[in-house]
Amino acid sequence: MTPNSRFTLTRTLPANATAAALATDVTQGLTRFPKTLPPKWFYDARGSELFEQITTLPVYYPTRAEAWILQQAATGIAGITGARTLVELGSGSSYKTRLLLDALGTPLTYVPVDVSESALADAGQALLADHPGVTVHALVADFQHRLPLPRCPEPKVIAFLGGTIGNLLPAERARFLASLRTRLGPQDALLLGTDLVKDPATLVAAYDDPDGVTAAFNKNVLHVLNRELGADFDPDDFTHVAVWDSENEWIEMRLRARRALGVKLPAVDLSIDFQPGEELRTEVSAKFRRQGVRAELAAAGMRLHRWWTDPGHRFALSLALPAPVAS
Ligand code: SAH
Ligand code: AVI
Repeated sequence: MTPNSRFTLTRTLPANATAAALATDVTQGLTRFPKTLPPKWFYDARGSELFEQITTLPVYYPTRAEAWILQQAATGIAGITGARTLVELGSGSSYKTRLLLDALGTPLTYVPVDVSESALADAGQALLADHPGVTVHALVADFQHRLPLPRCPEPKVIAFLGGTIGNLLPAERARFLASLRTRLGPQDALLLGTDLVKDPATLVAAYDDPDGVTAAFNKNVLHVLNRELGADFDPDDFTHVAVWDSENEWIEMRLRARRALGVKLPAVDLSIDFQPGEELRTEVSAKFRRQGVRAELAAAGMRLHRWWTDPGHRFALSLALPAPVAS
């Protein structure tokens, strides 16, 4: 990387912080009942690749629906915000982001933030070739914990696309949105993608594709634990499960033990048992309604300014502006 390069990649976490966070999450998650793991551990290089494959599946509508909305809304977003910096949380391949970059014009600073260094490196390099006026400051960071944003031209838009906010539990969402609010200056905005509540059959199909790509994505977390913690999970011992929880209005992805199992995780000094049929929850993917999004934004001190959906009302994009925190 040269000093005047238009691409920099910064690791914001100390070298051992990721390992320590994984050890804590695994120890806490696998010793409780029911067993759980946070979804961010899906995304090593293989997990990021599998997610990209998911986005191309006919049953996985969110990416296409959000891209359609962005195509319609990008010029309006540029006009309303006049943003000179685009920060994107959980940016992944940044594929849809190109629609925003095109509309915002140059010069522009783009700050993609992701736990997946491979995704950031691939996406950043690919973007530079097509967007000569864009400077990229990629951050390897956990957006739920510390977000050390570089000083950048104002105003900025913070984008959180793809419905990834639905992968946070409600209490985590509230904390996360409140902390995002502290990052917004008076002229800044939040652009939020949310998947919408719809018929359960469509939802379950989106998380249980016939080619087994989502199953492989789900099981990838076991490969991550094997590699990073010396665990001895056999992914074939588990079945991929996707269920709609109508009370919480979220999809849950789980891994169900096919038989009684004992698994060792030497790096965290843990041996855990699974009963036959026992399930490990690996992800929630909450689905939203307009009123709920408005209320969650308001509780965090933001005002829903614009709301766009696709023709099938499957997915929504919200533009939120800072507002006084409700007392
Ligand atoms: N925004 C893209 C990618 C969504 S996949 C899209 O809409 O297609 C979710 C992305 O969020 C992945 O790239 C994953 O690595 C990243 N991610 C998940 N949890 C994260 C966290 N806690 N901090 C930073 N990035 C995270
Ligand atoms: C990244 N996130 C919004 C995806 C989702 O739909 O919840 C992750 C995913 N899980 C299974 N398929 C896709």
